[in-house]
Amino acid sequence: MKVTVSLIKADVGSLAGHHIVHPKQIEVARENLKLAAETGLILDFYVFNCGDDLELLMTHTKGEDNPEIHGLAWNTFKMVTDNVSKPMKLYAAGQDLLSDAFSGNVRGLGPGVAEMEFEERPSEPIIVFAADKTEPGAFNLPLFRVFADPFNTAGLVIDPRLHKGFSFTVLDVLEGLRVTLNCPEEMYDLLALLGTTGRYVIHKIHSREGLIAASCSTTRLSLIAGRYVGKDDPVCIVRTQSGLPAVGEVLEAFSFPHLVAGWMRGSHYGPLMPVSLRDAKCTRFDGPPRIVALGFQLNNGKLIGPADLFDDPAFEYTRMKVMEVADYMRRHGPFMPARLGPDEMEYTTLPQVLEKLKDRFEKVK
Ligand code: F6R
Ligand code: MG
Ligand code: MG
Repeated sequence: MKVTVSLIKADVGSLAGHHIVHPKQIEVARENLKLAAETGLILDFYVFNCGDDLELLMTHTKGEDNPEIHGLAWNTFKMVTDNVSKPMKLYAAGQDLLSDAFSGNVRGLGPGVAEMEFEERPSEPIIVFAADKTEPGAFNLPLFRVFADPFNTAGLVIDPRLHKGFSFTVLDVLEGLRVTLNCPEEMYDLLALLGTTGRYVIHKIHSREGLIAASCSTTRLSLIAGRYVGKDDPVCIVRTQSGLPAVGEVLEAFSFPHLVAGWMRGSHYGPLMPVSLRDAKCTRFDGPPRIVALGFQLNNGKLIGPADLFDDPAFEYTRMKVMEVADYMRRHGPFMPARLGPDEMEYTTLPQVLEKLKDRFEKVK
């Protein structure tokens, strides 16, 4: 049986500013997905949050970009907005629902989507990632490490099934283009793109036999709306084990707290902090940016789990490092490179401030 895993997320309002999803929002989303499971539209679901983002994990047999599944997610976000966020006056109610014109797919309307369809293996362990206060390019570095760096993933060297490498499909989110590059042979070309995290983002990763291994959301809200509407807090699904990177090899890549764009007002670089669901809520300077990793076993499309994978003292050192780096970055205040560069700031409220100063400039003789 071919199973599709769909992870669709949106920020539809939150408690205490952009801090955390309210339990009532989760409850309403759960109820709606439960009804969909009872009617047979979906096989199973899990609702959770990372900070102010509501995450709908669904399994079904309808393939990617299915209008019924996307419709279910859209209606769930609408319902949570109308029945909970707005009546409770939660902050930024309905923030990511950028248009009322749903016509079969949530892509381009605000929510983030990661999906993959595959034949379920005899045992199918997957990891679902969700991050807050950052953007899709945040996955470039860790996913490169997982699927292309032998210093991270021992299996690339040791296991003949991984030895052939993986192919990366990368989107140019500014131009709406796509390219697929093979590793290890095109690794340097791949890195030439992936280092520009605001423009080139990993969309899919396949084994060289064509097995889907990872799928990431690629939405850039500001490019849709032409203005700042919050960062595009990304999601990602990774299949693991038996010829794919082991769970521990996938998690290993997150032990280095790399700098990602986002944090306060989506305008700063900050270290990405791997946390448990319990700690998936941003505080200091609306951050630091956080990421959760939930492990599941698929069982004929049913979700067994989750295992809250970063809920582990083994990531304590990373979290301490995050706080050291966060402190260091904060000491720069409004200065680059702690603040994003002018290209990225174009989509924030900074241009309004600069506009006011325009007439004050005079020619230097
Ligand atoms: C970042 C984020 C927050 C807000 C900040 C200001 O993705 O959502 O850091 O940008 O709290 O929010 P407003 O402008 O709504 O007061
Ligand atoms: Mg928010
Ligand atoms: Mg968020």
